[in-house]
Amino acid sequence: MSRGVRVAIAGTGFIGAVHARSARLAGASLVGVAASSPESARRAQAALGAERAFDSAEEMVAADDIDVVHICTPNHLHVPLAEAALAAGKHVILEKPIALDADSAQALTDAAHDAGRIAAVPFVYRYYPTVREARERVRTGATGPVRLIHGTYLQDWLLRPTDDNWRVEEDLGGASRAFADIGSHWCDLAEFVTGHRITRLCARTKTALTERVKTESHAAFSAVNGSGTARAVGTEDAAIVLFETDGGAVGSTVISQISAGRKNRLWLEVDGAEEAVQFCQEEPEELWVGRREHVTLIKRDPEHLSAAAQRYAVLPPGHPQGYADSFDAFVAEVYEAVVTGTPADGMPQFADGLRAARLTDAVLRSAREDRWIDVSIKSAEVAG
Ligand SMILES: NC(=O)c1ccc[n+]([C@@H]2O[C@H](COP(=O)([O-])OP(=O)(O)OC[C@H]3O[C@@H](n4cnc5c(N)ncnc54)[C@H](O)[C@@H]3O)[C@@H](O)[C@H]2O)c1
Repeated sequence: MSRGVRVAIAGTGFIGAVHARSARLAGASLVGVAASSPESARRAQAALGAERAFDSAEEMVAADDIDVVHICTPNHLHVPLAEAALAAGKHVILEKPIALDADSAQALTDAAHDAGRIAAVPFVYRYYPTVREARERVRTGATGPVRLIHGTYLQDWLLRPTDDNWRVEEDLGGASRAFADIGSHWCDLAEFVTGHRITRLCARTKTALTERVKTESHAAFSAVNGSGTARAVGTEDAAIVLFETDGGAVGSTVISQISAGRKNRLWLEVDGAEEAVQFCQEEPEELWVGRREHVTLIKRDPEHLSAAAQRYAVLPPGHPQGYADSFDAFVAEVYEAVVTGTPADGMPQFADGLRAARLTDAVLRSAREDRWIDVSIKSAEVAG
């Protein structure tokens, strides 16, 4: 369906390469790439098999022969590049966080709405079949009314003072680091699965490493022995959030980039009146379903999943699907929306990125002002 869609990727690091693979699998033409310099764009062109290397992302987003721009750069470039792409009439896939603060996220969401383009955000954990199964069990009432929503998103790649990345720098990554980077994924998934919206929250943040060694060109999720100079760090390593929802549930989450041994442990449990469901991103092939009488592990077996989940189960049981498959499903669905003009149910869009930005602002504010913050959904957010 999406064969022939012409796409380009700005930012060709860890996630840019994942986007490129998904684009190719979806049958799109990878027309161009842009990176931090013309030289690195040329290297990426060769590595990713793109038709052209652009000297700059700004030049690329305005090129005539591109339908969809993927923006996979450090966070501070998200708003200007997305604005330029929308102004040039492009559809946009913009990495999270879509903006460095909620006001900019709102303006960008409004711009996408006014432009009438498809504007998507890779909250790709939504695309695990077992996540869809959990969502379906809540939606159909199998779980009963949801009472508790809890979990964690833990990583360890910033555990040591010699661990560094552009995300640590406020002017490149934003005022929030751990929460904006991965807490946003957890909250998106919690709201997506339950259909609840967080209405109030209370947070504590922790910057355990107040100094880090500055290291040039340190790739995300890799350890180095930094040999640069120490500098002060203002962004948080971890956040703990307590919340209430519009569906009458209460919940909590622990978000951390300094939890030794945890690599990408997004873990979510939803406790309903009849049953609980639990999803773990590092073991995504099964959904734990707890009832007082018995516990069931639902395997990702297409024959035994609900239709909502089956749709994303592309391999037979026993042939594990993972993160890359979820990314592939997301990208293919966005291209489909570009072709048909209609996003599929559950496709994450700028309004969801805006939601994450509002929650992020509230987490920082709650921690700073030592109080609960209202984050009930505003009508303006629904527009985009
Ligand atoms: N959705 C997800 O699951 C997910 C996962 C990882 C990262 N991300 C997001 O993707 C973005 C990139 O993260 P990453 O881990 O790939 O970082 P990265 O450091 O691996 O890659 C960033 C890339 O941007 C390039 N870049 C820097 N300045 C640029 C410029 N002016 N023009 C064009 N390219 C430029 C760099 O050369 C680098 O290749 C971040 O916003 C991050 O939050 C999302």
